[in-house]
Amino acid sequence: MWIKRDDLTGSVLTGNKVRKLEFIAAHAINHGFRTLVTCGGMQSNHCRATALVAAQLGLRCHLVLRSDGPDQLNTGNFLLDQIAGATHEVLPAKGWAKALESAYGRLEQTYRDSGEPALMIPTGGSDSLGLWGYIAAAEELGGDIAAHNIDKAAIVLATGSAGTQTGLTAGVALWALPLSVVGYAVCDDAQWFNAKVAADWAAAERRWSQLPTLTLAPVTRDHSAGPAYGVATPEVYQLIVELARLEGVVLDPVYTGKAFCGLLKDVREGYFDQVDDIIFVHTGGIFGLFAHEHSLIQAAN
Ligand SMILES: Cc1ncc(COP(=O)(O)O)c(C=O)c1O
Repeated sequence: MWIKRDDLTGSVLTGNKVRKLEFIAAHAINHGFRTLVTCGGMQSNHCRATALVAAQLGLRCHLVLRSDGPDQLNTGNFLLDQIAGATHEVLPAKGWAKALESAYGRLEQTYRDSGEPALMIPTGGSDSLGLWGYIAAAEELGGDIAAHNIDKAAIVLATGSAGTQTGLTAGVALWALPLSVVGYAVCDDAQWFNAKVAADWAAAERRWSQLPTLTLAPVTRDHSAGPAYGVATPEVYQLIVELARLEGVVLDPVYTGKAFCGLLKDVREGYFDQVDDIIFVHTGGIFGLFAHEHSLIQAAN
């Protein structure tokens, strides 16, 4: 088993989001946007990465955050959002989808009226622009497997808003790599993710007419999603501690811990018996640990 260390994509930029933001921020700059608006949970890795990318590029950032309960503390990602100078507003989790849509409408209009339109980035940066981050990452993985003489492998990742999964699934097909891609849902179910991957790819094909038409067959496993988004079982906390002690690799309870837990279960049950190598994409999430201190300290002692 290999680990693709996308948690090492930067210190405060750690994780998968910066690969998407590379393309999203370039688009913002090329089109004269001065502000990035995005959204997510209070401990969103994507929001933190967007806040810091904006600061690095001299752009402004505004975050629409979902109040998820106990993780609203000024810690982890939310602390970094504020240090980086992002402004924010918080909406309740109940009725989030509708409230978010109306907040986006209001903000887009306000920025437009001010003469400086903002780039409105969807959840997780998972759209036909952010998608390129993991299409490019698939090319990089092609180089990795060639360098390590890997003939056939499964790429395994945590999937939350499906952008990473769509990029890798499409990228593997576009680069004709001998890889299968398996997403481990951290919320919702396999059906939702498979439909989202197909819809996001269809949107990309409409937007980028140079893309070849592909029929993607996304694979999602959903038995490790746990009770809800951001809520992990004691098994996940135990696994985080175990892997940290065994390898010095730290997973997070919201994404990578759940995915790794699901992966180990599948390995034990023979799901991966047909492949020689498994490449787990460590998509980051380290700052999310700090909002889960009580469960983690219990697991550690
Ligand atoms: C650490 C981490 N891993 C995985 C994911 C899932 O990525 P995606 O939103 O592209 O499905 C996210 C994003 O939400 C994340 O922050």
